[in-house]
Amino acid sequence: MLVVAAAGLLWWRRPAWYWLTFGVVLAGLRVLVRCASVMDACGLTVSPSRWRLTLARATNRPLPRPRAPRILRLRPTRTGLVLRLKLRPGQDVFDVAASCDRLRHSFAMYGVTSRELRSGVVEVRMTGYDVLKRVQMPIKVDTRPMRVPVALREDGAVHYRDYRAVPHALTLGATESGKSVYQRNLVAALAPQRVALVGIDCKQGVELFPLARRFSALADNQDTAAELLDALVSHMQDVYQLIRAEQQITADVPDAEIAADIWDLPEDLRPVPIVVLVDEVAELALFATKEEEKRRDRIITALARLAQLGRAAGICLEICGQRFGSELGKGITTLRAQLTGRTAHRVNDESSANMTFGDIAPDAVLAAIQLPTDMPGIAITGDSTGGWARIRAPHTSLRQAVNTCNRYAALAPDLPALAPFLPALAIPTPVDASAVESIPATA
Ligand SMILES: Nc1ncnc2c1ncn2[C@@H]1O[C@H](COP(=O)(O)OP(=O)(O)OP(=O)(O)O)[C@@H](O)[C@H]1O
Ligand SMILES: [Mg+2]
Repeated sequence: MLVVAAAGLLWWRRPAWYWLTFGVVLAGLRVLVRCASVMDACGLTVSPSRWRLTLARATNRPLPRPRAPRILRLRPTRTGLVLRLKLRPGQDVFDVAASCDRLRHSFAMYGVTSRELRSGVVEVRMTGYDVLKRVQMPIKVDTRPMRVPVALREDGAVHYRDYRAVPHALTLGATESGKSVYQRNLVAALAPQRVALVGIDCKQGVELFPLARRFSALADNQDTAAELLDALVSHMQDVYQLIRAEQQITADVPDAEIAADIWDLPEDLRPVPIVVLVDEVAELALFATKEEEKRRDRIITALARLAQLGRAAGICLEICGQRFGSELGKGITTLRAQLTGRTAHRVNDESSANMTFGDIAPDAVLAAIQLPTDMPGIAITGDSTGGWARIRAPHTSLRQAVNTCNRYAALAPDLPALAPFLPALAIPTPVDASAVESIPATA
C-alpha cells in the first residue's frame, strides 16, 4: 500500500522522479511484452515471406504469423525510452511516423517521435511525462566552443545553439511569450566561453543592462545602436585584413593551411568571436522623421552587411522581436533571408509565424500558432534536417543570469573598436519620481 501510495504521489507531484523510480521499469516491461501485439494492431507488420509460407505448407505446419519490426535496442533515458527498430522488407519510415500517435496510446507514453538512423533502421523516442512542463536540463551536456545548450526538446533531447554551424538566428514571438528569457539563457550559457557579447536592447536596456559586466558593448537606443553597428562593420573589415595578411599564399601552401575564416587562423592570432544580441529588433526599423529614416537605413544596412559577411570574421547575430516582416520597410526581407536559425515562440497570427517558417517549413507555421498561451517559453525551432521541434528554455531568472555574468565578468574581452560602447558599471541614479507621473505619491 505504501509503495503504491508513494508511486501515486510521485506520479502526481514529481513526474521526473516517478519516471526514474517506477516509470522506467514499468514502461520498459510494457514495451517488451506488448511490442508484437501493439505493432500488429498499429498496422506495422508485414505478411510472412513466400518461402516461409511454402515451407509451412510443405511441412504441414501452421501458417507463420505476420512479422513486426525487430527490436534492435531498447535504451532507457532520463526522460523516456529510445527504441531502435529494424524495418521489415516493404516498410518505410513514414509507416512508423504515421503510427506514432497510435504507439503513444498503446504504450501509455506521453510523447512518441521517430526518425531514420540509416536505411532500414528507425529510432523511436518516447517520453514518459511532459518534459516541457518543468524544464530541467541534464547536468551533463555536450558543450563545445560556440555551441551551447539552450533548451529542452519535447522528446527529452537537449537543444543546442551552434554558432559555428548556424551563425545567425531569428527568434520571433508575441509579447510575453518568452523571447527575452530565451536570450537570457543564451547569454548565461555563453558567459563562460571565450566570446565577446554585444547587446542592443531598445527597451531602454532593461533586459540586457543588468548583465552588463559580461558584455563588451551595449546600446540602449537607436543612435548608439547605429554607431555600434558601424563600429562592428569596421571591426569586421579589420579582421578580414588580418586573415588576408595571414594567408600569404604561394604555390606550395597545401590547401588546408590557407585561412579563409578566423577558425583557420592559429590560436594565438585568432580574434575573439562576437555574438551580437538584438532584443526588440522592430524598434531599430521604425522611424517618424526624415532624420530617423536615415538612421534606420544605416542600421538595417549595417545589420545586413554583418549577416552577409560576418560569419567568417566570427560575428554572429541573434535577433529577437515580435514581428520582422516586409511592413518594416526595405531591406528587412533581405536581412531575414540571411538568418538561418529560426525559432518562433507563441504568435498571435499566421503572418507572424510565416515570417519565421513560411519559407522553410510550412507545417511548423501551424504548430507555432497552436502553442498554448499558459506556457510561456514554449517555442518551435527549425533544425538542421529541415524538420522542426518543440522546445522550451529553462526558466532562468534575471537574478541567476546576473550572477552568472558577474562570475565570468573577467572573461569579457576588451575590443578597442568597441571601447566607446563599453557599458558604464556605476549604479544609475534614481529617477526623479515626479518624472514618472503614475508613481503613487508618498504621504
Ligand atoms: N522558459 C520559460 N519557462 C517558464 N516561464 C517562462 C519562460 N519564458 C518566459 N517565461 C515567463 O514569461 C514571462 C515573459 O517572458 P519574456 O519577458 O521573456 O517575454 P518576451 O517575449 O520577451 O516579452 P516582451 O516582448 O514583452 O519583451 C517571464 O516573466 C516568465 O515568467
Ligand atoms: Mg522581451
